[in-house]
Amino acid sequence: MPRDEQGHLVPGRVSPALPIPAKITRPEYVGRPGPREFTGSDVYSPEHIELIRESGRIAAQAIEVVGAAIRPGITTNDLDVIAHEFIIGHDAYPSTVGYRGYPKSVCTSLNEVICHGIPDDTVLEDGDIINLDITAFKNGVHGDLNKTFIVGTATPEVTALVERTQEALTRGIKAVAPGRQINVIGRAIESYARRFGYGVVRDFTGHGVGAAFHSGLIVPHYDAAPNFDTVMEVGMVFTIEPMLTIGTPEHPGSITWDQWDDDWTVTTKDKTWTAQFEHTLVVTERGADILTLP
Ligand code: MF3
Ligand code: CO
Ligand code: CO
Repeated sequence: MPRDEQGHLVPGRVSPALPIPAKITRPEYVGRPGPREFTGSDVYSPEHIELIRESGRIAAQAIEVVGAAIRPGITTNDLDVIAHEFIIGHDAYPSTVGYRGYPKSVCTSLNEVICHGIPDDTVLEDGDIINLDITAFKNGVHGDLNKTFIVGTATPEVTALVERTQEALTRGIKAVAPGRQINVIGRAIESYARRFGYGVVRDFTGHGVGAAFHSGLIVPHYDAAPNFDTVMEVGMVFTIEPMLTIGTPEHPGSITWDQWDDDWTVTTKDKTWTAQFEHTLVVTERGADILTLP
């Protein structure tokens, strides 16, 4: 436990919720089944952008601190405790706690888990890859990012997947410019991923973020033109967060998915491994400004 005979991950034991001081302001969805529909804009004033940057910085610093603790033998719950203490220690709320019932302060997605893995008593092993996804809420706004880390030493094939997924995010960010349609981002990501025969997960996307965790604006990571034709404008804030899989595009099991009975953990259907990187950014006159840097 928690791996089966084939080495695939299986659900572990999830510990009770950690306390969050009452003085830390909760997002509106906490204590409710889900968020209220967001009717605000995805375009923010310079003042609000600096507040999103402050939340984003806390989340990014949390990822660095948790990432430094990654080693064989540590559990994903141990990583959640570090993330939780860091975020509340900076007077921010860990946005995932109580979001549609999600119980923890970080998503920990290993190996074949595409996204939304819940920290539990799973022990990290040499050669695993683990994505940490952290969102912090402070001053009424969220900042959201994720990174994939290698535990010890991975195979060359897996190491290349992780490096190229980070590069795919970089290429998606470089495609951002005011006046362009949002679908140019996925075009840049997918054309890069295809060079290596990787699959691009379609059913989980980037999103508008700021006053809402997920505003309703969707940012596909594949070439979705002529759909998703929203024109980017200066001040627009959203995430880009590609998930690439080792399976080929002609091998749809790598981009289709199964979900565990916890109603969260998403794995590739064929159990091939997958990596992800995410930033929150704002559209500027010259391109994009990343708001989730440490
Ligand atoms: N941070 C994730 C994203 O990038 C969302 C996690 S929602 C959770 O959109 F409830 F699973 F935590
Ligand atoms: Co996100
Ligand atoms: Co995220």
